[in-house]
Amino acid sequence: MSEVYKGISWNRQKITYDLILWSGIVVYLAVFMGLTVALYPSATAETLLIRGFGTAALILLHIVLITGPLSRLDARFLPLLYNRRHMGVTTFLLGLVHAVVATFQFHGFGETNPLVSILISNTRFFSVPDFPFQVLGLVALIILFLMAVSSHDFWLKNLTAPVWKGLHMLVYVAYALLVGHVVLGVLQSETNPVLAGALLVGLVVVIGLHITAAGRESVNDRETEKGDDGFVRICHADEIPENKAVTRVVAGERVAVFRYEGKISAVSNVCQHQNGPLGEGEIIDGCITCPWHGFQYDPTTGASPPPFNEKVPTFEVKVENGEVSVSGSPCEPGTHVEPAHIDEGDNG
Ligand code: HEM
Ligand code: FES
Repeated sequence: MSEVYKGISWNRQKITYDLILWSGIVVYLAVFMGLTVALYPSATAETLLIRGFGTAALILLHIVLITGPLSRLDARFLPLLYNRRHMGVTTFLLGLVHAVVATFQFHGFGETNPLVSILISNTRFFSVPDFPFQVLGLVALIILFLMAVSSHDFWLKNLTAPVWKGLHMLVYVAYALLVGHVVLGVLQSETNPVLAGALLVGLVVVIGLHITAAGRESVNDRETEKGDDGFVRICHADEIPENKAVTRVVAGERVAVFRYEGKISAVSNVCQHQNGPLGEGEIIDGCITCPWHGFQYDPTTGASPPPFNEKVPTFEVKVENGEVSVSGSPCEPGTHVEPAHIDEGDNG
């Protein structure tokens, strides 16, 4: 991004977060391996690596999964979102170390190719105690790999946002496969309840936060009725904080209605970058600034300032006696719409 996008100073923040991330991983691995050696002095180096990196990857995956709902519920978690892609790639790398050591350890000494061996050495798919759980880990790892290699914005542009988003939604499939990997694998023979308890807590936290965030959004998602003039009443102008927005559903689409410098403009709530919620952003330097990664849009045209060319749909707006309404259907992305002016008497 150029200096136009100065809502978020990317690089310094990213380096700081990466340092925190990697320090956290090193500390976790050291504590995990130290405790394992203390409690199980006979544990081999391979077991330490397999278990340390496997659990580190799974913990980080939980953090990746709760980042979205957490930052929707509380803006203080937004900085985690800026770094989510790095966390995702790191999850893959940790899972890869775990998988390589496990494959070497359990499949590396036979005649068969180790990867083929994972697939054919156990085919008891209908047995709970003997389920071939490593296959689930392999499929999850392939999904994490596809997400890691396509995480750069280059792929977002080339694959188009809906395809990219669809691919990255597979993270939930990977998560389900990994829960199966651990439950059907390790927990079958594990007598120590810590791993089972931690996995259950993780599952409850991930599902609970997603349900809570979805519930919070559905309150705003109640469709607002269209009036005879084809406009939909949104709220009183006073209810919109300066340089911020309220979000409502109009014609089945979330619309962000911004107030700034005595004016009102409305645009689609969906950022063209990764579908971030524009209505949770604010106006910085005259531009709507996405809270997720700082993409910016002119509130009157829905277009990103040059040299960028993202565009979101705009909506006609009017303010009568302080009541803000927007047109029941969107204008083409990038269409200029004159902002509505809030008169002195409109303020309650
Ligand atoms: C080719 C892919 C994979 C193979 C062959 C594989 C293999 C294994 C094996 C053999 C175990 C049991 C280890 C033991 O009992 O000591 C295990 C456990 C585990 N795996 Fe995987 N795995 C793969 C992918 C993954 C991935 C991608 C993740 C996470 C992102 C993961 C997370 C875990 C976890 C958390 C455990 C439990 C660790 C523990 O025993 O405490 N695995 N895996
Ligand atoms: S979603 Fe990334 S900037 Fe909006």
